[in-house]
Amino acid sequence: MKQDFGISLWGEGNFVIEGDDVRINHASRPALLEITQDIRSQGYRGPILLRFPHLIKKQIDSLFDVFAEARAEFEYQGEFRALFPLKVNQYPNFINHLMDVSKGYAYGLEAGSKAELIIAMAKTPLGAPITVNGFKDKEMIALIFIAAKSGHNITVTIEGLTELETIIEVHEEFNADCDTPVAPQIGMRVRLHSTGIGSWAKSGGYGSKFGLTSTELLEAYDILTAHGLEAQFSMIHFHIGSQMSEINPLKKALREAGNIYAGLKQRGAEGLRAINIGGGLAVEYSQHSLSQERNYSLKEFANDVVFLMQEIARSKGVEEPDIYTESGRFIAASHAVLIAPVLELFSQEYHESGLRLKQTNPPLIQELYELYTSIKRVNAKEYLHDALDHMESLLTLFDLGYIDLEDRSNTEILVNLIIKKAIFLLKDEDTDELKRLEGRIQEKYLVNFSIFQSLPDFWGLGQSFPVMPISHLSQKPTRPASIWDITCDSDGEIAFDASQPLHLHDIDVEQEEYFLAFFLTGAYQEVLGMQHNLFTHPTEIVVTFDEAGKYQLSDMIDAQNLMDVLDDLDYDTDEIDRSLKRMIEESPSMDEKQKQDILGKLYLYLSENSYLKTIQAMITKN
Ligand SMILES: Cc1ncc(COP(=O)(O)O)c(C=O)c1O
Repeated sequence: MKQDFGISLWGEGNFVIEGDDVRINHASRPALLEITQDIRSQGYRGPILLRFPHLIKKQIDSLFDVFAEARAEFEYQGEFRALFPLKVNQYPNFINHLMDVSKGYAYGLEAGSKAELIIAMAKTPLGAPITVNGFKDKEMIALIFIAAKSGHNITVTIEGLTELETIIEVHEEFNADCDTPVAPQIGMRVRLHSTGIGSWAKSGGYGSKFGLTSTELLEAYDILTAHGLEAQFSMIHFHIGSQMSEINPLKKALREAGNIYAGLKQRGAEGLRAINIGGGLAVEYSQHSLSQERNYSLKEFANDVVFLMQEIARSKGVEEPDIYTESGRFIAASHAVLIAPVLELFSQEYHESGLRLKQTNPPLIQELYELYTSIKRVNAKEYLHDALDHMESLLTLFDLGYIDLEDRSNTEILVNLIIKKAIFLLKDEDTDELKRLEGRIQEKYLVNFSIFQSLPDFWGLGQSFPVMPISHLSQKPTRPASIWDITCDSDGEIAFDASQPLHLHDIDVEQEEYFLAFFLTGAYQEVLGMQHNLFTHPTEIVVTFDEAGKYQLSDMIDAQNLMDVLDDLDYDTDEIDRSLKRMIEESPSMDEKQKQDILGKLYLYLSENSYLKTIQAMITKN
């Protein structure tokens, strides 16, 4: 029986399983394996990050479509505008394609730092919105004024009253001798008492790091008025946290922020015309129906936002605000897929051929052997329990010095084989005990990637990402699997979890290639990824489709080579180069020819990245 790895839950129709392969459900529907082999035939061996611009476009289109439908349905008077929050993914191969596929929507960018602001200023088309959130100093506010003076539609969101004082100061400096002063729009981030839900909930609530209390809002409005800047005050902003698993906290926050908007309008804030609801729109990462991460649809989200804003505006007699969203995860997550080769499977030692049975074995080992050879469907549970009991006794006997290392090894192998057989014989019974036992016979798949670099939210927050093999899919995966990355850190593991089990295929990687794909890695993972053990951002490639529907590979950026990594850490790489060369040249154990040979090899290795190569790859390349 096949296994679909939960693709119907998280796949959004973007990928389909057909026969052995998982295919991109677009244009000529190429298999991920075909693309992977194409790239590897060019000599690439480590993990590969594939980017799919058509999936960015799909998300942009669906966000704008669903809000257009909701506005039409409710005859909503305000506009809908959207921005991408750069913190979610600042990589040029993503941003350039994002801006390209969103042409026509006046889609903007949100910045939270000076460097992000520079990207926003350079990449946002004039007229499309830019918002600037987060803490700012005078230079950052000056950059915002430069953007406004250059014609950008830019809104600076005030996070605290001191920022407002700096804005007034910069305004006076920039417009001192101007007949027609130009200033950015001003937004105020409100500190809601409503909190979000899930791992990122603390972005909302009274205790949150950002935003103005109601007292500060009123004070800020008075200060703006006193300086003749009240017309610039155009937006109320809030963000209750990323990956909102439930819709209710958003509804609460919308009511609260909507009433703040209406209260300020009633106070005379004429320029105020927009409410920016931040991000939070969740992505379904789960591969198991019992652990789904989102209890609402995109349509429900849009309908709730539009309906509630309208309801509040109508009841308070104020105009319906323009609605801004800064959804990032929803836009970016699906566009990137990480493909990584499996290098090794680590439980081959538990094979019958590993047994070292003696002429005369300790009686409990003899019994284990008999249990193993005579276990059947009818006695499987009883024999399994006996085996587990014998194992405890045998390990105690070993600790006390009554049996030797070979006996202990035989115990481990026999019990492991009995568990495997029992699970196979009892496969129709879905008991907790069997699920737990799967953890004891799990296979460790060593995968050529770094969890710290490519799935940092798994490491830091336990966020799961859909994972599946990209071949062998017409065969049932039988091995309970845990995934090891290649860092020297025991945290670099996705352990087998009996409540959300992952099963992979029984593969001999010496004979055939086996790749795992990690999906939905396009949001937050890349820039948060860290170079633990100096494993760098993987080689990335953009996959587009030509008019005939055939896939095209472009914009390839190689993972950094060893010397570039050291250079980034500010090592003097010339000095390292000289020192390595001297070491070889002065070595007394080699003749001239050997030295030249070794130097050639050294420079080849220095030009490559940190990820591992399979043994076969080393042979073909050298
Ligand atoms: C102000 C602001 N807007 C938007 C976002 C993006 O949120 P998400 O990725 O959940 O859409 C964030 C994320 O933290 C944020 O802080």
